[in-house]
Amino acid sequence: MGGRVLSVASECVPLVKTGGLADVVGALPGALAGKGWEMRVLLPAYRSLRAQAAGWPVVFEEPDLWGGTGRVLAGKVAGLSVLLLDAPHLYDREGGPYSSPVGEHPDNAIRFAALSWVAARIAREGLADWKPDVLHAHDWQAGLAPAYLAYHGAGGVKSVLTIHNIAFQGWAPAHMLGILRLPAHAFHSEALEYYGGISSLKAGLVTADWITTVSPSYAAEILRPEFGMGLEGVLAARGPVVSGILNGVDTALWSPEAADPPFSAKSLTGKAKARENLCAEFGLDVPGPLAIVVSRLTDQKGIDLLPKVIPDFVLGGGGLIVLGSGDPAMEGAMRGLAARFPGRVAVRIGYDEALSHRLFAGADAVLVPSRFEPCGLTQMYGLRFGTLPVVSLVGGLADTVIGASPATLAAGTATGVTFHPVDALAFRQAMAKLLELSRQPKLWAKLRQNAMAHPVGWEVSAADYAGLYERLTA
Ligand code: ADP
Ligand code: GLC
Repeated sequence: MGGRVLSVASECVPLVKTGGLADVVGALPGALAGKGWEMRVLLPAYRSLRAQAAGWPVVFEEPDLWGGTGRVLAGKVAGLSVLLLDAPHLYDREGGPYSSPVGEHPDNAIRFAALSWVAARIAREGLADWKPDVLHAHDWQAGLAPAYLAYHGAGGVKSVLTIHNIAFQGWAPAHMLGILRLPAHAFHSEALEYYGGISSLKAGLVTADWITTVSPSYAAEILRPEFGMGLEGVLAARGPVVSGILNGVDTALWSPEAADPPFSAKSLTGKAKARENLCAEFGLDVPGPLAIVVSRLTDQKGIDLLPKVIPDFVLGGGGLIVLGSGDPAMEGAMRGLAARFPGRVAVRIGYDEALSHRLFAGADAVLVPSRFEPCGLTQMYGLRFGTLPVVSLVGGLADTVIGASPATLAAGTATGVTFHPVDALAFRQAMAKLLELSRQPKLWAKLRQNAMAHPVGWEVSAADYAGLYERLTA
């Protein structure tokens, strides 16, 4: 059958990215096109995007967008059909999508309510030549879109809300209820009310026709208090309409064949050369496995465990390159590790897409010791490049990596190293196992082959999304 989907999010590759959300929002339209679903992506026209959209036609207008006008501009970027919500009073600012150089924008609740409001209007009313069948909202920033459909009329459109990270909930104080154009009758604990205020994510969870999250394991985990971050009860109440659909990665963008130099599972010479180049670039001389971390440096990602684990790994012959930014204390701790182990540990604080590609191509292992991980993409990049993932057994990490154990090694199925619980002891043991495997060339080669053969593309999950849209619109 097929149809049309309006995807609404705050980030989308290649336009604007702070994390995996952008990768997924940017990859879905291409993955769904082959399944008969035409997806357009609505994003705020942040300052960094306005020049690009200069000549684009205006396809929709909202005169009353919280203190100014909103105009929706339509265009194509790298094959994607993009709708940019141009509302300079809300989005034409210095900084990233959520913050300026001095901190979070104080009006984020309104900035993303505006995005959701326009999304709901486009879904309900359609553009001149395009009316969606489904509105697909991502994370709290688009959480009010299903709520606006529910409370202001849906016009026959079905809504899906995908949770990429339940830790971010978009909270606003109760007095903003009317300002956010939400009805007073919905201000109670079974609907919008959350800790005395309003949560955009909760609003979406109680009103969307369907809820997905980005891995089957995370879908089960968020029903429990350790992972639900206060919303476990809401999710349990909506149990029948919650499902987990595993993220894929863009296998053309993340491809060993496209690396410099290129390589493949059959011919790994290019990978060895990429490793040499990395070591030269970072001044490293590493006899054992070269590990990488490419990550936001936050509590979620378990980065604080590295200083307790890496010293033993280095003494055992390993090396580490960290690329990331985030918590200043963690940035400092990473710099401290590099200072303590010159020639073995290097750190690059910042965000660097090109370097991240070189790291995945040249390294031997990628470390993802997350406390929780809705899906995680870097372990999948690791699999793709034969860079063995060492991951904690949570969320999407548990769904994508087959840990080396006597059983999986005997069966020849292991693709990495997994550990549980998420603490320094278990992580240290996992790194010891990695060292031990690296000293057995045949086993190591087999692990690498398995990793590179593991499917990480969008094929299966795109079919799942398409199936979901079909069921909702049938
Ligand atoms: P999350 O979205 O929680 O940060 P994911 O693993 O889903 O985690 O996605 C993170 C994405 O951001 C990946 O594409 C990863 O390569 C990228 N990334 C994270 N930190 C950096 C960095 N410092 N430089 C370049 N890319 C980064
Ligand atoms: C979130 C999650 C991450 C997931 C990404 C894309 O940022 O933290 O686990 O991979 O969204 O869905």
